[in-house]
Amino acid sequence: APPRLLTIAIDGPAGAGKSTVARHLAQRLGYTYIDTGAMYRAVAWAALDRGAPTDDPETISALAEGLDIHLEPGDSDDRGTRVFVDGREITDEIRTPEISSLTSPLSAIPAVRRRLVALQQRLGALGGVVMEGRDIGTVVLPDADIKVFLTATAHRRAERRRAELAERGLEVSFDELLGQIEERDQRDASRDVSPMVAASDAHVLDSDPYTADEVVDRILIWHDEASERR
Ligand code: DC
Repeated sequence: APPRLLTIAIDGPAGAGKSTVARHLAQRLGYTYIDTGAMYRAVAWAALDRGAPTDDPETISALAEGLDIHLEPGDSDDRGTRVFVDGREITDEIRTPEISSLTSPLSAIPAVRRRLVALQQRLGALGGVVMEGRDIGTVVLPDADIKVFLTATAHRRAERRRAELAERGLEVSFDELLGQIEERDQRDASRDVSPMVAASDAHVLDSDPYTADEVVDRILIWHDEASERR
């Protein structure tokens, strides 16, 4: 019989290296990589684009309901997901510090989460996916075959974010990023709806001592064990 296609959930705070790990893992397995943070960012982008009042949950919920959010695999190893809203590509626009800061409060609105979670569950239903986010193992795909909660020190994560932004030509100070990351973690972990927390059956992994490839190799071992166990 052909091997079963598994679902893999990668959760954890901003900058722990989730994206690189999830993308490489999907590549190695021939699975689809799904960046759920990009979907929340797309809602924030649309709110700004339309001049919607970002402090009004009802308006933002209605906006999120009506958006056509579409993800496509990036065109090379190091390009993440391409993101489209109502047919317009916003891949680069959603990666600014401004969008990062706005996305966090908007992602705490229950109706926004309901809409995006439903979409994500549809994308994950067939298996063969590596889905990355904050609540994948707990809420979106509670039956995922493998759950990983990737952490790292805030210092290390700010360093990674700085390098990522620099690659895109954006120079942001380390201290500013560190402050933003700590504030965002605090909000993501303390919100009422789907706070960021490791699932009880997740492998909690501190990425600090490892390269992304080492983390990928470790998850591949869990993947092979899980495929054999089925
Ligand atoms: O992973 P990221 O930095 O692109 O995520 C952007 C924001 O969206 C971040 O503040 C956390 C939030 N998010 C979420 O609440 N749930 C997810 N599944 C993914 C992201």
